[in-house]
Amino acid sequence: MARELKGLGAGLIAGLGVVGAAFGVSAIATHGQPSSATPEKPHAAAGVPVTVVSQIVTTGHGYYLTSCAGCHGKDGRGVVGPNLHNLGDPDAKIALNIKNGFKGQMPAYKDSYNDTQIAALVAYIQSLT
Ligand code: HEC
Repeated sequence: MARELKGLGAGLIAGLGVVGAAFGVSAIATHGQPSSATPEKPHAAAGVPVTVVSQIVTTGHGYYLTSCAGCHGKDGRGVVGPNLHNLGDPDAKIALNIKNGFKGQMPAYKDSYNDTQIAALVAYIQSLT
């Protein structure tokens, strides 16, 4: 009996771990308002359920249509700004480019979008293949 309880306890703890991970990542999908105590880095998205990832991409798509489509095109294939499909850049580089912009060509977005929102934009851009 004691053994069974132990097993159950371990299962519960493992289950809580999964819930905790899902909760942390869900903060990414909620428009950058992580609830507080556990700041999650975008990298925490590794191993996240596919539905959560697709929510993040959808959120990023929304920001993209608002702020970026004018120059990069509704479909991301470029107008004034370059085609963003198959960039092949690491996430961190894309995030930096969005944050800092390009002088005289593209605005810096570090004051318009927080890191969580920029992570969503990066996820969207990386989904363009
Ligand atoms: C005013 C037009 C304009 C807007 C608005 C704009 N961009 Fe750009 N973007 C550019 C131009 C032009 C470049 C190329 C700059 C260069 O390479 O010198 C660029 C480059 C980039 C790059 C680098 C591409 C590469 O080849 O590595 C990324 C990523 C990017 N933009 C994402 C975004 C995102 C995301 C937004 C919206 C939040 C956005 N841009 C809004 C014009 C714009």
